Amino acid sequence: MYGLLNQAVQAYVVSRHGDTMWTCVAEEVCPEDVPFLALELYPDGVTFSLVAALAAATGESADAMLADISKFFAGYFATRGYDDLMRATGGSFAQFVRNIDLLHTQVSTMFPDVKVPSFRVTDESGMSLRLHYYSSREGLAPMVVGLLQGVAARFGQELQISHDVIRGSGADHDEFFLEFQPGRTIACQ
Ligand code: HEM
Repeated sequence: MYGLLNQAVQAYVVSRHGDTMWTCVAEEVCPEDVPFLALELYPDGVTFSLVAALAAATGESADAMLADISKFFAGYFATRGYDDLMRATGGSFAQFVRNIDLLHTQVSTMFPDVKVPSFRVTDESGMSLRLHYYSSREGLAPMVVGLLQGVAARFGQELQISHDVIRGSGADHDEFFLEFQPGRTIACQ
């Protein structure tokens, strides 16, 4: 994955657990890779190992840790120059979710070798929708949950997510059922 994501993991660790924890985890997992460069590609295993080491250090499960880190990502990306892109992606939570592929298309222009996932919305009502998640990678459903929670927080939106179709158990992709209350809107650009 591009270093931007590993930088986001680093920012999460420093903000939640301090510099010393980051130094320990990075020293254990990837001493030769730090400092990460946003535009450089690193093996996916670096990101997964960072999450696993942090989970072991804090006593969380790896999935819970990945979701919590990913919840932090939405705010982090906004501080790294992607706030305008996020605003342009949607003025409401539901509109944003419908447009995640458009957001990633823009991201692809900056990160040419990116392997972004694909999302599709069905069964939409005013306060719920079904989100289909297609990826060339496995094991990142908790990342989707965390990112959606982070996006919902930007809109001041209460969000319940049920991961009710799991890839691998007879399905070729994951599905999430999202229930939300009307939240505030953010001016689109
Ligand atoms: C400004 C906001 C965002 C930026 C800059 C961004 C950027 C990226 C980048 C660079 C990757 C790494 C892919 C690679 O290295 O091959 C990635 C992956 C991913 N992104 Fe985003 N993203 C953003 C928002 C979102 C949102 C809102 C979601 C919502 C669910 C999302 C879901 C994912 C997932 C699940 C992956 C993992 C790759 C996979 O599933 O195969 N991203 N994104």
